[in-house]
Amino acid sequence: MMQTEKLARAVSAGNAWSVSQELALQGDQHALELSNLCAKIFEETEAETQRLERLAADLDATATPDRSGQLHLIEVSAARREDAQRFVSRIQRDGYVGWQQFGGGAAESFFRHEREATLVCLEGTAFTVVVRWGQSRRAARLPGPLRPSANDHNVVNLPSKLWPAYIAVRPLRLAKDRLRPNTRGRRSLGPILSTPESLLEKLFDFAEITPDDHLVDLGCGEGRVVLAAAEKRGCTATGVENDPRLVALAEKRVAGSGVSARQVRIVEADATDFPLDDASVVFLFIPAEEIADTVYQIRSNGFDGRIISHEQRYIPGGIRPTASTVITGNDALTVAYLWP
Ligand SMILES: C[S@@+](CC[C@H](N)C(=O)[O-])C[C@H]1O[C@@H](n2cnc3c(N)ncnc32)[C@H](O)[C@@H]1O
Repeated sequence: MMQTEKLARAVSAGNAWSVSQELALQGDQHALELSNLCAKIFEETEAETQRLERLAADLDATATPDRSGQLHLIEVSAARREDAQRFVSRIQRDGYVGWQQFGGGAAESFFRHEREATLVCLEGTAFTVVVRWGQSRRAARLPGPLRPSANDHNVVNLPSKLWPAYIAVRPLRLAKDRLRPNTRGRRSLGPILSTPESLLEKLFDFAEITPDDHLVDLGCGEGRVVLAAAEKRGCTATGVENDPRLVALAEKRVAGSGVSARQVRIVEADATDFPLDDASVVFLFIPAEEIADTVYQIRSNGFDGRIISHEQRYIPGGIRPTASTVITGNDALTVAYLWP
């Protein structure tokens, strides 16, 4: 097996650090760079873990850095729901953005019915913090289908004291969804997680993006990929995003840059049925288990341009990419896939 393929498999299996250390001992320069990068990612994650622990020194919560050296991931275990809730609001004030963005009664209901919350850094190093806590006895007794979900919490803003009412919101919301067939069966392409800036240039090299291209990022988050494609490659780009909060961030990012509104467009829409007639390249950074179906759907709808995606985990099933390679930046690594 080629060394590069070995490294790509090691990244997908989560053991890039140990495999690259072994190959580095045999004199492989690429493996040495990867091994040093894993050590750096771990050091950064450990330092951020310690910083968060200081931020929450008065709370009963312990933070642990991911030890794979592949991810800037920190897991926090809180003794009580209240500690988790305080921890989350504290790091939100510190710049982290929650996958779940609720306040008032919705936040109270969320913390009482769920067991974990994920927060990400959208600027600088892409840290992900997963906060876990014990579920209340009341929530544990509630059958899964009755437990309010993120969709229920987004329906209405109730005051804190009314948090138990979200149990009633669920059946109402489900009934309403059934009456609106155009919203049924819509697929989520995953929550926000930004492609680290340091990987973008090499991802564009891998997909051979030129000024003649029109790149469409399906699920563009805060817009960094489309903006970088326009700035670094001079191409036109469209970002498609269904979260209005992220659409606003992406629009702000584009407006604050030197690129024209004609060169980069941010569209608030469902990416799963977005027309790709003008596109020459589709960019996908979505969960591994969604990639195969999405590529299949894009091809079935007649798009015959390049599709580029990246993901550390193994991509199950579907139309196999013709090329894959490990991509490293100064603070992140990934495996890039291309369907030409
Ligand atoms: C992992 S993020 C990728 C962000 C960006 N492409 C990047 O690489 O930095 C996936 C994004 O897809 C958005 N998303 C999920 N499902 C979607 C859908 N059906 N239509 C539009 N956007 C969607 C999420 O809100 C999130 O911002």
